[in-house]
Amino acid sequence: MTASPRTIHGSATESDILVSARSLSEYADMFGLDAEDLLGRIVDCPGGAASAVAEICEAGGAAVAVDPQYSLGAHDLRERVLADLDRSLAQSSASELEYDWDVRGGVVGHETIRRTAAERMLDDLDAHPERYIAGALPSLPLAGDSADLVLCSHLLFTYADRMDLDDHVEAIVEMARVAPEVRIYPLVDHAGTPLPELVRSVIAKLKKGRLTSRIEPVIRPFQLAATTRLVVERSGHRRG
Ligand SMILES: C[S@@+](CC[C@H](N)C(=O)[O-])C[C@H]1O[C@@H](n2cnc3c(N)ncnc32)[C@H](O)[C@@H]1O
Repeated sequence: MTASPRTIHGSATESDILVSARSLSEYADMFGLDAEDLLGRIVDCPGGAASAVAEICEAGGAAVAVDPQYSLGAHDLRERVLADLDRSLAQSSASELEYDWDVRGGVVGHETIRRTAAERMLDDLDAHPERYIAGALPSLPLAGDSADLVLCSHLLFTYADRMDLDDHVEAIVEMARVAPEVRIYPLVDHAGTPLPELVRSVIAKLKKGRLTSRIEPVIRPFQLAATTRLVVERSGHRRG
């Protein structure tokens, strides 16, 4: 697990980007994953401490995660993940009106989901380190067409304050090199501010590169402002 990840404008791997821990159930909601999706080869980028890969593989599927923080190694990554978990739980509680807590079984349910996801991912990292690849957008250490679907949660758009239009486009083009379909969520920044101009401009630039995009609704989002995802496909790609 060695890599010297390129960063997006040199700042996207800074320590203030949370290494967060979401469950497969959260991913299923955010990305509208169905049984057919889970039969394919999936890349979770950024994987962070999400347990999606562990859960998909446990169910017999094929998935890997890519994240620059995997280069820390298991011990330091565990410390980072547990510290960031506390940071992220404190942040969401402090802005409680921005979330639909019923979706997560209240504040306590939410904390349980996130802690369970982190522990599951860290255990899986120990048992199957080959599933967790150190690397960074916009240059993934994965072969072209090595996956069917790339999932990108809480990096693009979320950190639009430090990634510009070209960073977004380059990152999406790179993910679309690895798989014919890319799903990105959310389309708001970390404060929940919608980014319609940026989303429109990204879609327009992708279209010039023969990537087609559509915006899909997300049912019962936890973050109230984050009601949509972006699905990008190579032109002519048909699922199945
Ligand atoms: C908020 S976490 C999201 C993790 C996971 N997808 C989730 O939803 O829980 C953002 C992650 O992006 C990773 N990251 C930062 N810069 C990156 C880059 N250039 N390419 C890929 N991942 C990056 C961070 O290390 C961090 O783990």
